[in-house]
This record gives sequence, structure tokens and C-alpha cells, in this order.
Amino acid sequence: MNNRMRCRIFLTLSFGILMFVFGFFVCYEGKIKIINKWTQNSEKLQERKKPVNNLIYPVFKHPLAPPYPFPYRFIINQPEKCKNQKPFLVIMVLVQSQDLASRHTIRETWGNESIYDVEIVPERVQDMLEEESRIFGDIIQQDFMDTYYNLTLKTLMGMEWVTKFCPSASYVMKIDNDMFLNVNYLIHNLLYPNIPVRTNYFTGDIAKNTGPLRDKAYKWYVPPEVYPNDTYPPYCKGPGYVFSADIAKNIYDIAQEIRVIPMEDSFIGICLYELHIPLSEPPRGAFNTNRLHYDHCKFRKLITVHHYGGKVLRNTWADFWAKKSQKCTESRN
Ligand SMILES: *[C@@H]1O[C@H](CO)[C@@H](O)[C@H](O)[C@H]1NC(C)=O
Ligand SMILES: *[C@@H]1O[C@H](CO)[C@@H](O)[C@H](O)[C@H]1NC(C)=O
Ligand SMILES: *[C@@H]1O[C@H](CO)[C@@H](O)[C@H](O)[C@H]1NC(C)=O
Repeated sequence: MNNRMRCRIFLTLSFGILMFVFGFFVCYEGKIKIINKWTQNSEKLQERKKPVNNLIYPVFKHPLAPPYPFPYRFIINQPEKCKNQKPFLVIMVLVQSQDLASRHTIRETWGNESIYDVEIVPERVQDMLEEESRIFGDIIQQDFMDTYYNLTLKTLMGMEWVTKFCPSASYVMKIDNDMFLNVNYLIHNLLYPNIPVRTNYFTGDIAKNTGPLRDKAYKWYVPPEVYPNDTYPPYCKGPGYVFSADIAKNIYDIAQEIRVIPMEDSFIGICLYELHIPLSEPPRGAFNTNRLHYDHCKFRKLITVHHYGGKVLRNTWADFWAKKSQKCTESRN
């Protein structure tokens, strides 16, 4: 990162069983203004016709549909985080409450800053978490159960947080906790701090022509009552996607009106479909939701690689960072 930027991190969790989002700020002192657009967009939202996946009754309930909207409260929050700065990038990392290890690894590698812990369990864990939040100031937590089927709520918590507490951000990245992330490449070769901030921009590893699994044997079974259509609109695969921060509010707003489904990435795709926001094609191969064998020169031109965690991520990162100024000869593919 060059001199004009300073980095800050923060992260977020939610509780019950915990969820957490962890944000990484790259503070860019530029002329970036996006707030006005948001109000315009929400006016547009009112005019839209009823979404296909709309709530039939104000209280649509299904055991496999994450309960939403619901006034989940922020139990741990960082409301001051963006008061005096306009982050260029906020990174939300979804981590399970008990997964201290991967938060650790992330803070020491590409998220270099803090650590925190969470668990489903008793008060002591909550105490520890609050302590962790005091120390690192990067945790957000809401009061819903952190279960597999509630994953979407974590992402929505992140959208809500950006909407309410960090509307001045330029871009947001949502990422899982077992990823290699090349922050420099993301900033300088995809987002470009020196160009005006894009709006309605959403990119990642795009999934097309998929649909809900209707067989109850699957872990990810989705009943028609929860999502009626046979296909999902295109969406960016969950492990890592990036969007302009103006979209956070639009997604948060539309999520108040439609049935939330347990697959967070497909759900965000449905929101974008309802909002008529198209996905942008990423640089070819830059977002990898599969594992790739580590190669320093190859990884320099990637944004994400899946299935890098723990010791492997630490070692990979150490090598990657140590060689950051080393020359790579252009490969021809
Ligand atoms: C972050 O990086 C700095 C500089 O390399 C290092 O001194 C610090 O210990 C790192 N922080 C963590 C949590 O690893
Ligand atoms: C999701 O969270 C809500 C609120 O904490 C909880 O009532 C519900 O049981 C959870 N759903 C699942 C499927 O775990
Ligand atoms: C669902 O199907 C209906 C009817 O074919 C179509 O109009 C609508 O656009 C679809 N919705 C999504 C989210 O794909």
C-alpha cells in the first residue's frame, strides 16, 4: 500500500452462536462522495413493482428460512469506526464464533491487525468477546443464532452495518475465513483508488444456471415455500465477492421485503436481480473459489484463492509478502 493509504481493520460478530464479520479498512484520502446516491436509490426502491420472492404475509415463517426482517440488535458494535474517516474498502469476514484460530490467522496475515473469539456458549464467552472487541475494535455482533441456515443473516448484518455506520465507504468485500486475499491487487488492479468510485458495481466468481436443491437429503435443501423458482439469477459465489458500498443499503432495504433464503450468495443474487443491478465480469480467473497450488508469481495476479487457512495460510502469506518486490517474468497465458 502506498503512502496515501493507511490501514485499519475491524471486524464484526454476532451471537447466540456467533457470527462475525471482520472489516478491513484501507483509508484513502481522496475525493470520494457517495452518500447522496443512496437516498436517490431508496426512492427508486419505492417505485419498484412487487418482487417475485416477496413476503406473502408480513410474518412469513419457515423453519428453513432465516427469520428476517427482525429487529436484531447489535450487541457489539463499532459505531465510531467511520465517523472520522472514509474507508476505501471495508472487508467483512464471516467467521464462526468459536473459530478463534482463523480470526487469528487472518489478523496475522492479510488482515494484519486484531484477534477475537466467540462461541455459542455461556456468559464467559460473551465476556471474552467484549474484551476482545475493546482491544481490537473490529468486532460486530448481533443477537441471532449462528447456525448454518442463518448464514445469510451474517451477511445482512454486514449490509446493515455499512448502511447505518459506514455509509462513506467506497467498496465492501465479503469474504470467508478460509481464503487467501491479495489486498494490494484488489485495490490497485480492480478497484483503483484514483478513479471515481463506481456505483452499482458487484463482482466476484459468477455462478450461472444454478437452482435450489429440492431433495431433502441435501444439506442445502430449499423448499419451494422458501424460494419458489427453479433457478437462481446469476450470483457471485460466497467465498469472496466485492461491491460498491452504495449497494449495501439497497440490499439491506430489499431484504426487508423478500423472503430470505439460507444460501447467502444465492440470496444476494436474488436481491440484485430484484434491484436490476447486473453483475460485472471480474478479471479472468482473479476470484478463485477453488484451491490453487501456491505459486508466488501466479498469486500476485489473483484476488482470492479458496481453502487457505491456518498454518498453510500463514506460511503462504509469509512467502508471498516477503517476495512482494521481487520481479516476476511475464507468463504467456
Ligand atoms: C502486522 O504486521 C506488522 C508489520 O509487519 C507486525 O509488526 C505485526 O506484528 C503484525 N500484526 C499481527 C497481529 O501479526
Ligand atoms: C436463526 O436465528 C434465529 C434468531 O436467533 C433463531 O430463532 C432460529 O432458530 C435460527 N434458525 C436456524 C435454522 O438455526
Ligand atoms: C421467477 O420466475 C418468474 C416466472 O417465470 C419470473 O418472472 C421471475 O423473474 C423469476 N424470479 C427470479 C428471481 O428469477
